[in-house]
Amino acid sequence: LLNWIIPIILAYLCGSISFSYFMGRYRQGIDIRKHGSGNAGATNTLRVMGKGAALIVFILDVIKGMAGVGIGYLFRTDPTSLTLMLVCGIAAIIGHNWPVFLRFRGGKGIATTVGVAAILFFYAALISGVLGLIAIFISRFVSLGSLVFTVSLPFVMLVMGYEMTLILLMSVIALLAVFQHRQNLKNLINGEERKI
Ligand code: G3P
Repeated sequence: LLNWIIPIILAYLCGSISFSYFMGRYRQGIDIRKHGSGNAGATNTLRVMGKGAALIVFILDVIKGMAGVGIGYLFRTDPTSLTLMLVCGIAAIIGHNWPVFLRFRGGKGIATTVGVAAILFFYAALISGVLGLIAIFISRFVSLGSLVFTVSLPFVMLVMGYEMTLILLMSVIALLAVFQHRQNLKNLINGEERKI
């Protein structure tokens, strides 16, 4: 059991490191959560602090997801299974969304999910990533692209014949993403969502 709990806690703590928050604090002396959409993520960094800052935050958040998976890799006892790595990836996403260091108000976990998925299921992530990017390109809504990416991923994995456990765990990630985008969904329906 400790073989599971310890890496999960470590991955959660790793995910809790909020790079968009640090970027706001050290670059402009602001709390990013009080500006733009109020979300501590790369998209809102783009809105509030511009392209360079957003790119750095995005890359670091992607690496953070990969690091969460890496923690699972270090602790796994069964070298043939990806389950612990994906569970640790989920823990990192949960840390990003509800960071212990920031009173549990963080981001929506998309860049972190990109890192988790890219390292574990590269081709599935690539396909869903392209679908998400097309959605952003056409609609100009990053939130819509984020939803297309996360929600399509378990289906792409199903078509590609991945193990059911991994597909179900990826569905949990998709549900977390939908839940975190609940305000974006309302805004999209009401025609009030921010474009890029
Ligand atoms: O990845 C987050 C994005 O989907 C939405 O962010 O700031 O527009 O709510 P935001």
